[in-house]
Amino acid sequence: MRCDVWWAHPAAGTPALFELLDEVERGRYAGYRREADKLRFLTGRALIRGVVSRELGIAPGEVVLDSSCFECGKPHGKPQVVGSTLEVSISHSGEWVVLAMTDGASVGVDVEEVRDAEVDGLAGICFSPPELTTFKSIPEEERRGAFFTYWARKEAVLKATGKGMWVVMSKLTLAAHDEPPRVTASETTEVDITAVRMADLDRGPGYRACIAVFSDSAPKVDEHEAGELITSLG
Ligand SMILES: CC(C)(COP(=O)(O)OP(=O)(O)OC[C@H]1O[C@@H](n2cnc3c(N)ncnc32)[C@H](O)[C@@H]1OP(=O)(O)O)[C@@H](O)C(=O)NCCC(=O)NCCS
Repeated sequence: MRCDVWWAHPAAGTPALFELLDEVERGRYAGYRREADKLRFLTGRALIRGVVSRELGIAPGEVVLDSSCFECGKPHGKPQVVGSTLEVSISHSGEWVVLAMTDGASVGVDVEEVRDAEVDGLAGICFSPPELTTFKSIPEEERRGAFFTYWARKEAVLKATGKGMWVVMSKLTLAAHDEPPRVTASETTEVDITAVRMADLDRGPGYRACIAVFSDSAPKVDEHEAGELITSLG
């Protein structure tokens, strides 16, 4: 099963990219206080419209998205491509914005900048008991990187469900950070461990990234740099 992954740096906020946003998205854009957050959001929407329009053979402005939250209906949920079987997921962190797209399989992507964080405390909240045992055995100097490996992998799975962190992170147990990504146990009905397939993505030592799909077959990941695509959109 093909999974396209597109990487972009946050783009300049040009009028042409802004024009691609619908009314609801313009409201969200305006609601971000930090310029960096505005541009990450704008870049994510440009990526979706640019990539989906190529796939469907339509103009970027004709791609209609519905980001209604499954829980409250507000437009901050997982984007859906209206009228298409294409499935998309977006993530942004640091210098990267990433889109994953499949045809027909629920997909989640996450990228995380490896940054200063109280990783032992966070692991205590987000990891399952077996994960915590493994995590505590990791040498201290490797623990920060390992934490973000777990985090990106878990968040990718949660985003594939469409419910995000509404699904309690500690209910999933993943394979160790230095093994291939895999869910080894699930205490939530949202994640059937026989149906989830994962693949790590590599953006260098300062980042961790992963995709997860609900599919019978392993994802064949095709990675692309989106610089030219974004430029072509204006
Ligand atoms: C989805 C979520 C994990 C994203 O976390 P994050 O690390 O801050 O951000 P990321 O950059 O990795 O991902 C953000 C993107 O996830 C997507 N997203 C939002 N909600 C999502 C969901 N429920 N499932 C999958 N993807 C979701 C969006 O595309 C969003 O980017 P955009 O708003 O610019 O389009 C987190 O926001 C979340 O769990 N949201 C749902 C929480 C919840 O319980 N909602 C119900 C209460 S109203």
